[in-house]
Amino acid sequence: MDESILDAVGSPLVRTAAPEGATVAAKLEGFNPGGSAKDRPARAMIEAAEREGAISPGDRLVEPTSGNTGIGLAVAAAARGYDLTIVMPASKSPERRQLLKAYGADLELVEGDMDDARERATEIADTDGAVQMGQFENPANAEAHYRTTAEEILEQVEGREIDAVVAGVGTGGTITGTASRLLEEFPEMEVVAVEPERNAVLSTGESGADDFQGMGPGFVSDVLDTDLLTSVETVALEDAEREARRLAREEGILVGQSSGAAALAAQRVAERIAEPQLNCPEAPGEVEELLASDGGEIDGYDDCPLVVTVFPDSGERYLSTGMFE
Ligand SMILES: Cc1ncc(COP(=O)(O)O)c(C=O)c1O
Repeated sequence: MDESILDAVGSPLVRTAAPEGATVAAKLEGFNPGGSAKDRPARAMIEAAEREGAISPGDRLVEPTSGNTGIGLAVAAAARGYDLTIVMPASKSPERRQLLKAYGADLELVEGDMDDARERATEIADTDGAVQMGQFENPANAEAHYRTTAEEILEQVEGREIDAVVAGVGTGGTITGTASRLLEEFPEMEVVAVEPERNAVLSTGESGADDFQGMGPGFVSDVLDTDLLTSVETVALEDAEREARRLAREEGILVGQSSGAAALAAQRVAERIAEPQLNCPEAPGEVEELLASDGGEIDGYDDCPLVVTVFPDSGERYLSTGMFE
């Protein structure tokens, strides 16, 4: 029995479609209690601030966010006894507002964009003494993935070598923390960042406009360690959404836009490093069949190049956008 919902943070690693001669596996972060990867940094940032003596239960936290971080913080704030104000642009979806309210967070809507939300959150922190978690600067964000996401992956690959890790970049917490830990075990591993094609700051140095939720903040975040990156893949929003529909219909994996992008980028990397001469199972379920027919052994399976990626949230969070219609 878990003592708290925060002890239930964690997600499965599931094999997904891959080109011949390679394996792709995705960490399904929608399985976390608040429905996204952000449950990990939300919990870690609160715990770090508690350790530093900056906050204690009963205090008020404030964060400007339009998405999953707000929901992760709302879960952790409810479970640990904090008041929470989320400042978000009035243009964001009604589901997000309702979810935040359901967890008891106070919502302040501002006209304008995330910069206006950030300004207002700083004003609230300065005048009301509320404490900001600062996901783009807070080292506890990446540390959460170093200590939890990567450790879970190491256990879940059951001794297989990881050849590449592929992850979308928002704050950069996921890729920085996960890759840092995995590189300790697999120093030759490739680290591939994914960003929106029309807001490709890492690839081009220029920001752009895109509706990708959670990915491509339009600047290089302090939390992102660019030295870890081997390469950067860009994906167009419409291609990512098409891949998310395919994942739901063909594999039964319901995920959001940035997961569709991660899947496409992971398949590209897998294609590049595949070794088609190896006997690598393709469709999910084939492993069991091969195991049964080969007396419990699949020749060369453990040598198949392995690409691990992260699907940050569930497709349920995007139903109102019409992307699955
Ligand atoms: C939907 C979505 N995509 C991508 C990301 C990128 O994650 P990070 O901020 O750790 O770079 C996030 C964060 O959880 C997200 O919510």
